[in-house]
Amino acid sequence: MKIAIVGTGYVGLVTGISLAKLGHKVICIDQDKDKIAKINNAKSPFYEPGIDEQLKKMLDKGLLHATEKLEEAVLTSDITFIAVGTPTVNNKIDLSSIKKASMQIGKALLKVEKYHTVVVKSTVLPGVTEGVIKPTIEKYSRKLLGEFGLCMNPEFLREGNALEDALNPDRIVIGQIDERSGKEFAKIYAKVPVSIIFTNLSTAELTKYATNALFATLISFSNEIARIAENLDEVDVLDVWKGVHLDRRLSPHIGSTQIKPGVLNYILSGCGFGGSCFPKDTQALATFADQLGIQASIIKSVIKINETQFQRIILLLKKALGENLKKKKIAVLGLTFKPNTDDIRGSAAFPIIEALLSEKARVISHDPMAYEKLVPKQLTNLQIVLASTVEEAVTDADATIVVTAWEEYIKLSPHFFKKLMKRPIVIDGRRIYNKHSFLSSGIIYKGIGL
Ligand code: UGA
Repeated sequence: MKIAIVGTGYVGLVTGISLAKLGHKVICIDQDKDKIAKINNAKSPFYEPGIDEQLKKMLDKGLLHATEKLEEAVLTSDITFIAVGTPTVNNKIDLSSIKKASMQIGKALLKVEKYHTVVVKSTVLPGVTEGVIKPTIEKYSRKLLGEFGLCMNPEFLREGNALEDALNPDRIVIGQIDERSGKEFAKIYAKVPVSIIFTNLSTAELTKYATNALFATLISFSNEIARIAENLDEVDVLDVWKGVHLDRRLSPHIGSTQIKPGVLNYILSGCGFGGSCFPKDTQALATFADQLGIQASIIKSVIKINETQFQRIILLLKKALGENLKKKKIAVLGLTFKPNTDDIRGSAAFPIIEALLSEKARVISHDPMAYEKLVPKQLTNLQIVLASTVEEAVTDADATIVVTAWEEYIKLSPHFFKKLMKRPIVIDGRRIYNKHSFLSSGIIYKGIGL
């Protein structure tokens, strides 16, 4: 089938590549000329393992290309995806890109005679597809629903695993405004051996928020338990999670082996959740619940715990280094919100760095992916030094804080810190080190939940 995708961010481009791999002809559309040029040169605008290689393959096969020309792309396609961003502004979902894309698609549909299905991939709150996107398309296309189709198909891919998630989805949720829309759209997944849930638009929209909010809740819950553990003698929250994880309901037995489901990775304590999705989606959901007159006290607490988790790191640091951080050299390892991505949006590193700077500490940070060009205004305004190697970052430091669990940091030995640092204080924000070997080597080792 011929598919147009509006928006070449994570969701748009990865969806495009995976649909091209299924044999569809995909046109990716973006208003940003630089992005278009990059994509057509097989260079993804963002980092994702293996993406440039897959992109090149699809370009070479003529199954994918990028363009600025939205109308032309829609006119030559059977299905148009909306995959533009839905950021949270002033705690509310910002629909300006969604409205613009819907208007442009509507205008293009004015000239389309055959049945065309519009599919919303962007994360939007319940009611948006029906209440905002549908009337906008109807207005500008001068067509009524039925003359075109409309579906909501949430995306569940994770950064760092995006291609794998998109190529092997665990489920496909299709919110359909009418049966024909869902039936026409589902044809693109004909070759994918996976369960498809057909439902209505609002259920599909809420499924996406409920999924993200659930994982965010697990993380904040784990951090709340860590706070309790930190206040008890001889309790390490890692041992607590070991005991919890082995519950058969969390780690079922298949034959004689007990499996370790992915959900367990979210039932662990650390610096808190970040990224471009969990923080914005939990906030948008909480505000939406308020509008419905629902308290949403769990989601609000999840956000609050996450927003204050950075203080736990500062507290641990002060326990080791003393209250006065002025002129102390602190190495911060990791700027991305998680490993294997170059995304620094919502990263726990920033509130930590801001807190350190407000106490007049000297901050030197390192990250294997977030090079200087990726550093946003927020960071360039901060007086921090970016080290090009981890050795440079920790040399002569009074303390090191690990914020992101990059493989490169996991491999570091106690000896490495002892040899280079002024004082061997390590604050493990992701609990990546073996506390026994660090403590027995003379490191002043502190970690979340310890
Ligand atoms: C998240 C969801 O996991 C995806 O299902 C969803 O499609 C996506 O948002 C979205 O809404 O577009 P992503 O933000 O890439 O994807 O990342 P995750 O890997 O789930 O990470 C989110 C947060 O959870 C991060 O702060 C990360 O550090 C934390 N996390 C992640 C863990 O604590 N443990 C893990 O094993 C993975």
